[in-house]
Amino acid sequence: MPATIVLGGQWGDEGKGKITDALASSSGMVVRANGGSNAGHTISTPQGVFKMHLVPSGILSPGTTCVIGAGVVIDPIQLAQELQELRDRGIDTSALVISDRAHVVLPYHSEIDRGEERLRGEVPIGTTLRGIGPAYADKVSRRGMRIADLCDERTARPELDRSFDARNKLLSAYYESEEVDAVSMTEQLIGAAESLWPFVGHAEDVVQDALDRGERVIVECAQGAMLDIDYGSYPFVTSSSPTAAGACQGAGIAPNQVDRVIGVFKAYSSRVGSGPFPTELFDETGHEIRERGREYGTTTGRPRRVGWFDSVAARRVVRLNGVTEIALTLLDVLDGFDPIQVGAGYELDGAAIEHVPTLSTDYDRVKPILAPAEGWLEDTTAIREGQDLPSKARAYIDRIGALTGAPVSMVGVGPDRDQLVSVGRDIAAVIR
Ligand code: GDP
Ligand code: IMO
Ligand code: MG
Repeated sequence: MPATIVLGGQWGDEGKGKITDALASSSGMVVRANGGSNAGHTISTPQGVFKMHLVPSGILSPGTTCVIGAGVVIDPIQLAQELQELRDRGIDTSALVISDRAHVVLPYHSEIDRGEERLRGEVPIGTTLRGIGPAYADKVSRRGMRIADLCDERTARPELDRSFDARNKLLSAYYESEEVDAVSMTEQLIGAAESLWPFVGHAEDVVQDALDRGERVIVECAQGAMLDIDYGSYPFVTSSSPTAAGACQGAGIAPNQVDRVIGVFKAYSSRVGSGPFPTELFDETGHEIRERGREYGTTTGRPRRVGWFDSVAARRVVRLNGVTEIALTLLDVLDGFDPIQVGAGYELDGAAIEHVPTLSTDYDRVKPILAPAEGWLEDTTAIREGQDLPSKARAYIDRIGALTGAPVSMVGVGPDRDQLVSVGRDIAAVIR
């Protein structure tokens, strides 16, 4: 049975955690493919709300193997803590496999992240300050440490000594930052590595073996395709590829092993941090969407910027990622609005444009061409069958499908696990 990719179609926080969790119970495996603890994936269950940063969102499904793929950058101390917190809440974490090839985020990476943001002055990227960019930079510069290196007691300490020494010089001389306490951090890192060691393995073989056995494998991306390092709004992006191609690379699977690419999109848009956002709302409507959607960051608690659905950006994401179906989340947040606007086109300096500008200075000047849709002004949160959705809500969903070029297969009507409605088919068939 081939693999299913779950990716964010916008700027992150689309509800990937909830959708992955919904698919996980009927899948053999969930593999996290990219990013690090910049991610925050929320799963709301009767046992409480879980916020995953590094652990795949399949961990709440007993019997589902969870894999952290080679494309992820892992803060070992944070991962050890996240696992402990899950165990403290009664979650069985034994079915976890951590790729020995995944790179490690070290304490100086977040200090460099902070230093870089400071040097950017008035226009910082607004990173999560989790050291993600500097960790990926070290990886591609071939001076990174991988989980396997950290867990190898013959080399870990001398390598950490060398790295701390070099980066502390950089921190004090170039970034004018405090140095990291190498001695205490080394002990904490070695301690974390010891606790993670039982889970470390050849993740790509574990994933391929599951595919060979005919199990369904869900590949969970973090972030969103509009934050992609190559095709997002550079430099206001993250440092990995939260795309279908990136999912394959990060999870260790081949493109022809994938038969389903689920693009998770909010029924409107949100973005955290700086960067172009043509359909952004600065008015009372924006404020109301933020409050109704509880749009505050899972990882940093920052208020998210919100706006209308942007179908130009969405169409690009659908095309570049081969999105086969859309999971449209947070539809219930729009229950209170009439009309609802949809970003149907872009205008740059008075002329309509078809593409997403490459220069962020151009993208910043883009004005959205908004088209109104009728609001349904009904509470959708108790609806579980597609046919029970208000006809105006169904019209909105169909319009999103037509504008983006991919059909909407499921709709989120609330944060809870069961607040998921299939469109057209039985929900069991959709989350199979
Ligand atoms: P992720 O990073 O893509 O997993 O998304 P986040 O967890 O960061 O943010 C999504 C937020 O929306 C979380 O607070 C979810 O609990 C919540 N959520 C997910 N789906 C729905 C939905 O359909 N309706 C509502 N109201 N909230 C949702
Ligand atoms: P999930 O997986 C939303 C954003 C940051 C910043 C930019 C770069 O929960 O959807 P980074 O720390 O990655 O160098 O920050 O990317 N960003 C996210 N925004 N959701 C996320 O993850 C994000 N991960 C990074 O806010 O604008
Ligand atoms: Mg999130």
